[in-house]
Amino acid sequence: MKKLGVNVDHVATLRQARRGMFPVPVVAAGICEIAGCDSIVCHLREDRRHIQDRDVYQLKNTVKTLNLEMAMSDEIIEIALKVVPAQVTLVPEKREELTTEGGLDVLKNKTKLKETVKLFHDRNIVVSTFIEPEFEQIDASREAGADAIEIHTGRYAEYFEANQEENWQKELDRILKSAEYAMSTGLKVHAGHGLDYKNIFPVLKVPQIEEFNIGYSIICKALFTGLYEAVQEMVRLIKKGQ
Ligand code: PXP
Repeated sequence: MKKLGVNVDHVATLRQARRGMFPVPVVAAGICEIAGCDSIVCHLREDRRHIQDRDVYQLKNTVKTLNLEMAMSDEIIEIALKVVPAQVTLVPEKREELTTEGGLDVLKNKTKLKETVKLFHDRNIVVSTFIEPEFEQIDASREAGADAIEIHTGRYAEYFEANQEENWQKELDRILKSAEYAMSTGLKVHAGHGLDYKNIFPVLKVPQIEEFNIGYSIICKALFTGLYEAVQEMVRLIKKGQ
């Protein structure tokens, strides 16, 4: 059964717009769980532009399964080791970016990744690497000891949005081949970034992908339908393919 992780960063983005109390990410997370998602995702960025440290602790103490997205910086690693989420997803981070751009360069950061994976495995935390659909990145993730990869679907989503069918089909093919390859080497396969209620359908046909991590499109829809309905609809698409 395919799983849905809902990213609640943008609930915190709205709160931080006024540096106020509301809306509360952990309250949103509870609604997402009641609506049927399998895990809650949040990204504690080094610049703390949305999720704050206290959100991470509140989420850890409240939700069933927390997937903490994070850069491999020493400060954030230290926090993650205190929080002990069920899973960490290691992402690259640039201060000037609007959202995570591009996958983690595991080839370049393999030694650091290996050390980081060991720290997390010592605390029974599952480690996933957010990477481009490239075989070398998959090999490097496996060699460093990761349990899973999350395939970056951002480029696919951009082509889909621009109605460039030839390009999105090509990107989908890269995603499919990478998913097949990763699974054949024993890695679990996740996918995320830019996925929405339309572009999810072709990606759902990739059988190896067992977890989808989605934020922006769900929170946007929630503004008009309410969060419960927005999550429930994505759950229906992912779990029932309709
Ligand atoms: N997966 C990862 C690793 C991400 O960095 C993000 C964005 O925070 C997502 C999934 C969710 O992307 P989106 O908000 O575009 O659905």
